[in-house]
Amino acid sequence: MLRLCILKLCLAMKGTGRSERLLSQIYFKNHNRFNDVICWGCRRGYAQRSSSLTPPIYTLHRLLDRISFDFPATLSTVTKEKYDEYGNKRSRKRYKHLGMLLGSLGFVVAFCDTSHFKEKRFFRAVQYGNVSELKRSIADGIDVNIRHPLGWTALQTAAINQREEIIKILLDNGANVNAEDNFVNVYRTAMEKGLHSLDVLTKREEEFSDRLNNRATFQGFTALHYAVLADSETCVKALLDRGANPTIENEAGHRAVEYAKEGEIKEMLVKHAIKYDEIVKEKEAEERRRFPLEQRLKQHIVGQEGSISIVASTIRRKENGWIDEEHPLVFLFLGSSGIGKTELAKQLAAYIHRNKSDSFIRLDMSEYQGKHEVAKLIGAPPGYVGHDDGGQLTKLLKKCPSAVVLFDEVDKAHPDVLTVLLQLFDEGRLTDGKGKTIECKNAIFIMTSNLGSDEIAEHAMQLRAEAERLINHRLANITENQEPERIEISRNFKDQVVRPILKNHFRRDEFLGRINEIVYFLPFSRAELIELVARELKTWAKRAKERHMIELKWDREVLSVLADGYDVHYGARSIKYEVERRVVNQLAAAHERGELGKGCCVLLKAKWHESGASITLSVQKKGSEKFVDIVETDKLTKNISSKFL
Ligand SMILES: Nc1ncnc2c1ncn2[C@@H]1O[C@H](COP(=O)(O)OP(=O)(O)O)[C@@H](O)[C@H]1O
Ligand SMILES: [Mg+2]
Repeated sequence: MLRLCILKLCLAMKGTGRSERLLSQIYFKNHNRFNDVICWGCRRGYAQRSSSLTPPIYTLHRLLDRISFDFPATLSTVTKEKYDEYGNKRSRKRYKHLGMLLGSLGFVVAFCDTSHFKEKRFFRAVQYGNVSELKRSIADGIDVNIRHPLGWTALQTAAINQREEIIKILLDNGANVNAEDNFVNVYRTAMEKGLHSLDVLTKREEEFSDRLNNRATFQGFTALHYAVLADSETCVKALLDRGANPTIENEAGHRAVEYAKEGEIKEMLVKHAIKYDEIVKEKEAEERRRFPLEQRLKQHIVGQEGSISIVASTIRRKENGWIDEEHPLVFLFLGSSGIGKTELAKQLAAYIHRNKSDSFIRLDMSEYQGKHEVAKLIGAPPGYVGHDDGGQLTKLLKKCPSAVVLFDEVDKAHPDVLTVLLQLFDEGRLTDGKGKTIECKNAIFIMTSNLGSDEIAEHAMQLRAEAERLINHRLANITENQEPERIEISRNFKDQVVRPILKNHFRRDEFLGRINEIVYFLPFSRAELIELVARELKTWAKRAKERHMIELKWDREVLSVLADGYDVHYGARSIKYEVERRVVNQLAAAHERGELGKGCCVLLKAKWHESGASITLSVQKKGSEKFVDIVETDKLTKNISSKFL
């Protein structure tokens, strides 16, 4: 036991990569459970370990190696040996203490590291088709959906290694059949994880598959994609039979079928895909008919399914008379900047009032931070300056009493302004400076705030998983024709995290009590970022066509590279900025240099380097067949993936 503990300490000091191989060697030696291939891998790893130790800890390692391997017995045997070797009392004592210290430290490390070891054992069993070991891991309670530290899942590992039996066991135990690979390519993953690209390459080859092209990009590959790449008909069938969706596209925009050779596998995939496409089309048509508001909102807003669903269903209740008519509707939109809060309010107004211009009132509450600014809102009382002008809110509400009113950044407003708002929300009427009352029970009030946005962003992973579960549930029960359900945000999170933040800020329970719905906006997922980039590029392509008669096209990889410019603090705005900085700047410069003539076609391409990716322009002159690269001026990607993706 002590040997193992000391060894684990050594592993922790050197990083898990090499040292775990060392551990597995012990495992192999003692239990003889792994087959020869693993053993070879382990030995190779071990050999690398000794040669790459840095001088300061080399001695310690040598010592530990001796303890671990050369001496079969306990620490005391070792100390005795060492005592003879050093012959001097002081060194002996020191050595003994060192041994004890290492032993206890090692125990702690070993204790903390057992779960990691279990995961490793699980992935090995999957990779090498070791059914009994896999069953043992599952019985030990391993989560079959855990990801390898470099991003792939066990199911994908089984698929690429053609382990049909393993695939079935994993799926029977709840593995997500449609999970997508997070491993991008060697360079990008190395950058993201802070590893050397050679380390990543070795791990990918040893722990996933060495049959793949290590220059290609694998982001978004599902187990089905891998089974097709491995050309395994039985695995493809096993996956399709258990609900794998053949219409899922990887990050490069390819379905699994595009990697299939002519023959049985291709036919099987095409047949299943037709079925899926029909289901999705039917579902979309049905949703459009039943939920026009959701459709409209979804056309303009990427992601934010949960928010759209809450807002739309509340509005529908209002339209159908299932709401307390004494009070106006009040929403509080929470979330970080640039994720669609204002946009959703605008689209809501456009839907309810058929694009009438007076129907959307927007007030920036950071302009109402002072006590005296209440007058700006509802008008000054008689005898005060500005009495004749009336208030900003009252003036606009008079014109359209059923308007959608947006109070942006409401947390910045002065408490006296909040008192006015409370009266407005509570009574559904507002008295202006001239004593005139405006009835506005029919209005919809939306407040936005960044309060708690960091906490919400951190919680986002959980919320998103929940949202995905609901979407899958809806897809699975498509025949039932049920209404989309409201996404349940954990009550615990609302009560324990968000409410205290709001309470602490607004300091009034009655204010929070008057809000009908608190709507949570989540940071974008990877797929949503890609969608945002695509929308932005399409907007520019339209402009380029209209203004300069230049056609703009792009490879799918470009979307992924530009999506890396996402900054969680600026949201969609950072995507707009990234497209301008990296694409539009280059286009404008090339246009100025006269390299882009009228009627030409520009293709955007992504190029990977050791330190990041760049975007290059390739031009096809009018009447020519050939694309010619032009001088690259793009800066490499600096901001690699937000932690919230
Ligand atoms: N979910 C989204 N889908 C599409 N565009 C978005 C989304 N979120 C933000 N944007 C775009 O980003 C910009 C800022 O969005 P906005 O709604 O004002 O953000 P905020 O959440 O800070 O109110 C707008 O141009 C908007 O069109
Ligand atoms: Mg806003």
